[in-house]
Amino acid sequence: MQIETIETERLLLRPWRDADLEPFAQLNADARVMEHFPRVASRAESQALMARIRGHFDRHGYGFWAVELKRGDPFIGFVGLGTVPFDAHFTPAVEIGWRLAHASWGRGYAGEAARAALRLAFLELLLDEVVSFTVTANRRSRAVMERIGMRHADVDDFDHPHVPAGHPMRRHVLYRLGRAEWRALRAGVEDE
Ligand SMILES: CC(C)(COP(=O)(O)OP(=O)(O)OC[C@H]1O[C@@H](n2cnc3c(N)ncnc32)[C@H](O)[C@@H]1OP(=O)(O)O)[C@@H](O)C(=O)NCCC(=O)NCCS
Repeated sequence: MQIETIETERLLLRPWRDADLEPFAQLNADARVMEHFPRVASRAESQALMARIRGHFDRHGYGFWAVELKRGDPFIGFVGLGTVPFDAHFTPAVEIGWRLAHASWGRGYAGEAARAALRLAFLELLLDEVVSFTVTANRRSRAVMERIGMRHADVDDFDHPHVPAGHPMRRHVLYRLGRAEWRALRAGVEDE
């Protein structure tokens, strides 16, 4: 199943276009956006990441969508779903993730896009569970996870295998949301 574009109240979650590279490279070079990553990314690294994201769509039909404001900026970052690209105690698994340009923080865009992605994950892809993870100190990202109903348990914390041993950003928290929990959260809030 190839999911093309998802529309929410204020956003389009859409396939990537070549023109997204410039603003994507800018946000990946912004130290505020990359505070919880080992370092900012170069233009070449952004290009490679964009190619990997597009490749994921080709293989799976879903991925980290480019996010566009319906009444504004044609690219503010990405939000979406991805197969976790490493082995850990919770894999294989599908994660939900986000990265937005700093100017687009604080407006509820990540949450709005994430809720649409979860709906797709549970109603169309019929996943049993969606996970999300980040470094322990990433308060803003953890707040999105909590706002969309994900739950954290200390027992799930893990060392990210792509971060070198001893690095302060190696320790990660894992959040989970199962389909039954998601349905229960939505009961009475939204019609099917
Ligand atoms: C993580 C990230 C996407 C969170 O963005 P965010 O804008 O804080 O998250 P949300 O979209 O959920 O917005 C919530 C904020 O918008 C505010 N808001 C304003 N209008 C809103 C609306 N209509 N609906 C909901 N919230 C709204 C909320 O009050 C909240 O503000 P607060 O942070 O002052 O409490 C962003 O910080 C980011 O891109 N970080 C860098 C990349 C990163 O670390 N990614 C995760 C790596 S694992």
